[in-house]
Amino acid sequence: MPALAVLTSGGDAPGMNAAIRAVTKVAASRGVPVWGVEMGYDGLIDGEFHPLTRQVGRNGLLTPTLEVEAMGSLGGTALGSSRCSRFYSREGRAQAIVQLEKYSITGMLVIGGNGSMAGAHALAGETTIPIIGIPASIDNDIGLTREALGVDSALNTIIEACDKITDTARSHHRAFIVEVMGRHSGYLAMASAVAAAADGVLMPEQQRSRDEVIDAVYDCIVGSFDVTRDKTRVLIIKSEGIPIPTHELVQEVTTRLGPSTNIEVRGTVLGHLVRGGNPSFRDRLLAGRFGLVAVDAALQGRTDLMTGWNLTDRGEATSDSWIRLFSIGDVLDETKSLLDGTSAVTIDRVHRMEAIQGVLSL
Ligand code: F6P
Repeated sequence: MPALAVLTSGGDAPGMNAAIRAVTKVAASRGVPVWGVEMGYDGLIDGEFHPLTRQVGRNGLLTPTLEVEAMGSLGGTALGSSRCSRFYSREGRAQAIVQLEKYSITGMLVIGGNGSMAGAHALAGETTIPIIGIPASIDNDIGLTREALGVDSALNTIIEACDKITDTARSHHRAFIVEVMGRHSGYLAMASAVAAAADGVLMPEQQRSRDEVIDAVYDCIVGSFDVTRDKTRVLIIKSEGIPIPTHELVQEVTTRLGPSTNIEVRGTVLGHLVRGGNPSFRDRLLAGRFGLVAVDAALQGRTDLMTGWNLTDRGEATSDSWIRLFSIGDVLDETKSLLDGTSAVTIDRVHRMEAIQGVLSL
């Protein structure tokens, strides 16, 4: 008798709940019960499982619990999440396998970022129970999927915040440096800079030194407020992976501008605000599409695979023309090169930003 388990792991991301809902609905439609594992891999090791499906009516129709029905439109993760150090060890994973066997689980779905995928890959190598990953991380630093769950919602939050900052910045003719999350990935900064019509972007992939960052911000502000441009605000989006804290950057640039320019610079760190909030339409849609492919792969006994939104011919085609299945080992390799700058995707992102630098600063 098949039974699936699902967990969310790592930093929460909007769309995780929509993915739990999708997985549960698809499995229930196939007559397969689903268990929710609380608090990520920690809950897996400790056996914190609760049912996400129930039987209703005279015929005992399998259907999602009320909890699942209510969660899909909410941000965060209703199952809870953790960054679990015990799962790095073989002993920790062995305890997790004992729990999966105790609950007679025949397929496990892991919703999370690249650390979670590394855990799923290790687990898949140590059990015959199928393990399938669904990418979710606002950082968009997971290889082989053009977007992970949470990215679109986070970008919507960032541009809403930038629009509000622009209102006040224009009123005082000020320059703002807005820091966004993303860990070592500059994707959120890059994409939001375009969408919010920022004047500049600072992302770790540009590999600028601390002094080069200060120079770039100074030049951008002075150039933008030059009388020939007649700008009323300057907005620079800075990724958190830039090696100078925002308040220090503001201080350094203010000192260099000096009192005679009359230019005021302010910094805003959006921080965890970017990670919260209801999932966007696109994240909910993607969650549904990932969920369907992931459940069917697990029920077919496939393992060590991740769903990816990928329109190339890499990986394995599925019933959904947008969604392909990738070996998690390949995903982890591509993730590494995304972050060390050797991936074609990263090189292309940096080139594209360089190419539009003149447009941004207009
Ligand atoms: O990976 C998601 C993320 O939000 C990163 O952007 C950020 O660097 C990190 O998690 C913050 O982690 P925590 O919530 O543990 O402080």
